[in-house]
Amino acid sequence: MRFALAIVVSIAAAGVGRAEPPKAYPPYAKPTSIAHRGASWDAPEHTLAAYELAIKQHADFVEPDLQMTKDGVLVCLHDTTLERTTNVEEVFPDRAQLVGEKKTWPVVEFTLAEIKQLDAGSWKSPQFAGAKVPSLDEMIDCVKSRAGIIPETKSPDLYGRRGLSMERALLEVLAKHRLDQPGIDPATPVVIQSFSAESLKVLRNELGCKLPMVFLTTQAPVTAESLKRVRQFADGIAPNKADVLARPKLVADAHALGMSVTVWTFRSGQTGNFDTVRDEMRHFVSELKVDALFTDNPDQFPRD
Ligand code: G3P
Ligand code: CA
Repeated sequence: MRFALAIVVSIAAAGVGRAEPPKAYPPYAKPTSIAHRGASWDAPEHTLAAYELAIKQHADFVEPDLQMTKDGVLVCLHDTTLERTTNVEEVFPDRAQLVGEKKTWPVVEFTLAEIKQLDAGSWKSPQFAGAKVPSLDEMIDCVKSRAGIIPETKSPDLYGRRGLSMERALLEVLAKHRLDQPGIDPATPVVIQSFSAESLKVLRNELGCKLPMVFLTTQAPVTAESLKRVRQFADGIAPNKADVLARPKLVADAHALGMSVTVWTFRSGQTGNFDTVRDEMRHFVSELKVDALFTDNPDQFPRD
């Protein structure tokens, strides 16, 4: 009896059997780096060069933001318009629309063939002259089997008003690459993200998508009740870093509901009170226990 008691005491002292907290909450298997628009610090965002560099910099996931062309093709662009990251003004000077005083070239007014005539690299540096806007199809060809992919449905309402379903198009492209089911390709995990709750609900409830989804917020859910409402249509939250710093308990609250926390966006030169982006990311992963980070600098993600 005394012997049995001694075993129980020594097991307890060693901590054997005590549940360790997970290193990261699903869908992530470990603290995860996401190359924000590719390796967008060093290469022009959303070009194949930026995605290739992200992989060289050991990003766990690569992010394509999605817009749609006039002919219904998903392309990788952050903005709903073309002028910030391409030379559309030179190539199609007469196709501008006026918004107030400002000339603008909406993606949805151009076919894929027209968008392929644009230079999406020179605005960053002459070294990238001639880089093209990739379709999602091309982005997946580039990244598949080398990293995860976390597509974001951007402005789905804008496209919905034009009779274009971003969600259907996304699932069609994923199905073409056999990436439309969770775990189907362990080398290429897929997570879907959106600021639009409606877009995630359409994917999950109308289209039956079973892939993990994270809900991006500009104001993080504050109460347990609001987190529970998000839990009904998303597997994780994606707050901005200021919200997490202001209320670090958000992470434990989300984890208590089994939800992951993916935080945006970490980049050199915008590191708040931290000396370097590496220090800032280390704090979020090691101290605040978030699960994944969007960063323009995947080479600086702390992996030690
Ligand atoms: O999707 C995460 C982060 O990228 C959100 O910001 O504007 O860069 O898409 P944005
Ligand atoms: Ca994004």
